[in-house]
Amino acid sequence: MNQELTARDFPTVYKPYIDFIELMLTPARFQHCLGVAQCMAKAHHIYPQSGTAVQDWILAGLLHDVLKEASLSTMLWWINRHKASLLDDIPAHLHGCPTYLHGPAASVYVRHALGLADRDRDFYAAIAEHAGEYPNMCLMARCLHVSDMCCPTTRYQGYGKLARIFFQGRLDEAEMLLDAWIIESIGNFGVPVHPHHPERLAELKRKIKPAPGFFSRTDP
Ligand SMILES: [Fe+2]
Ligand SMILES: [Fe+2]
Repeated sequence: MNQELTARDFPTVYKPYIDFIELMLTPARFQHCLGVAQCMAKAHHIYPQSGTAVQDWILAGLLHDVLKEASLSTMLWWINRHKASLLDDIPAHLHGCPTYLHGPAASVYVRHALGLADRDRDFYAAIAEHAGEYPNMCLMARCLHVSDMCCPTTRYQGYGKLARIFFQGRLDEAEMLLDAWIIESIGNFGVPVHPHHPERLAELKRKIKPAPGFFSRTDP
């Protein structure tokens, strides 16, 4: 069992945001968000070429799921109120699916409700895109997508293998592995596969040509 993370594990500048998500989210999801933020701090060190500040990476980790437990209508309200074009990136048959709406909703929420209006554009893109695959994702978005499934408070079969590859700086392989596992398992949670997932997986497979056994969840 991991020790629980708290605001004391982060510099004090993040405390208002940590206090806020602690109020907004269940304890388990609050721990998840602190864990993802820790992963993003580590990832920024491993993937420094993004050109964006580590503070943005950590904040994106803390806030990426800020509306995850809100109602579907609340998510849609925030998107339609501030940036309805975000829905253009999501196939219409997924517009009733919170899995694919909570990221876009959070990206406008942090800008308009939390006053984070002056961040690098990658910050909003990373939050918007963390739960899906989108064309030409920036480095921060790709790392948040993987960190979301690598954080120290998450446990599922294969977690250790994904984390090892990601933190070795092998982002293409980590993303390929994660997308294969998402396609394999997301239906078990009643969530349809986003069509960009298999497209991105095919693209990465052509680039990397994975060895036999690569997609096994066993960490050798
Ligand atoms: Fe999420
Ligand atoms: Fe998450």
